Amino acid sequence: MGWDRRIFLPIGLIASMVASWAVAEDWLPPGSTTEMSGVKPAELLDPSQEFSGQILLGRLLFRSPSILGEKAVRIGMSCDSCHTNGHVNTSFYIEGLSDLPGRIDVTHRFWQAGFEDNTDNPIDIPSLRNVKNKSEFGTRVIFSSLPAFTRHVIATEFAGPQATGVEINALVSYMSSLDINGLDTRYIYEETDIDSPYTDLLFGPVEDQDFPQLDVLIDLIRADLGRQVSNDTEEEISEKIRLMLSLRTSAAAGNYETAKVFLEKLRR
Ligand code: HEC
Repeated sequence: MGWDRRIFLPIGLIASMVASWAVAEDWLPPGSTTEMSGVKPAELLDPSQEFSGQILLGRLLFRSPSILGEKAVRIGMSCDSCHTNGHVNTSFYIEGLSDLPGRIDVTHRFWQAGFEDNTDNPIDIPSLRNVKNKSEFGTRVIFSSLPAFTRHVIATEFAGPQATGVEINALVSYMSSLDINGLDTRYIYEETDIDSPYTDLLFGPVEDQDFPQLDVLIDLIRADLGRQVSNDTEEEISEKIRLMLSLRTSAAAGNYETAKVFLEKLRR
């Protein structure tokens, strides 16, 4: 099919993009939409769990197309595109793979040639709220553990790269913090700055002078901030990204004292 071929075009164009995934439409059949339109569902988090560390890292990965591999990067699709805020993107639609919005065929060759079951079988995107209390995951292929199902989603359904144990644990921590009766993160964010919890994640690697870890985190945070850009936030977000890049440059040169100064500015 024509559109099938189009998504194999080079990815260089999008690689450097942080601010908008609008170009994703170029890689998808006309009429497709991976962005949730209208009001997004509330992100309900279990109030008994601290919203930090692993959960935050998992949240960043959940929102990063890179965890799902090259094809997902091209179309700007992350776990959050389907399970928006841990719930359901009721407008998700890919022409040829969806029969109705909010439904998708995850066993189609569009995702991975080897996992085509040769039937058109779109299914409802499930909510992940309360997923921690389930004992079975999936409908076609059933797994009894959330980490195992998460590996299956990345590797088999979406032909993503091999996820590390750290990534799987972080994703599972985030998903396990989603709760039916939880607090809406929007309220949490009102009390703090929209992204200051993320900046806290940089603290450990700066202290440990762990540049590779810092580099990965800065990329993830930067991309996530880029996705939050609007007219109102553009200036503030650009400033944060500028500070993070300066932090990275200092750290790359082994100058962690200066890196700490940038980190303090970020956390103000
Ligand atoms: C293209 C849309 C889409 C994307 C992207 C996606 N999912 Fe899903 N997810 C689904 C659908 C559809 C199902 C139902 C699959 C089934 O029942 O076999 C599902 C099922 C699940 C389940 C099992 C839920 C249950 O109650 O059984 C988990 C956990 C899950 N996804 C996590 C993830 C994670 C983590 C990512 C990113 C690494 C992700 N999903 C990316 C559509 C998606």
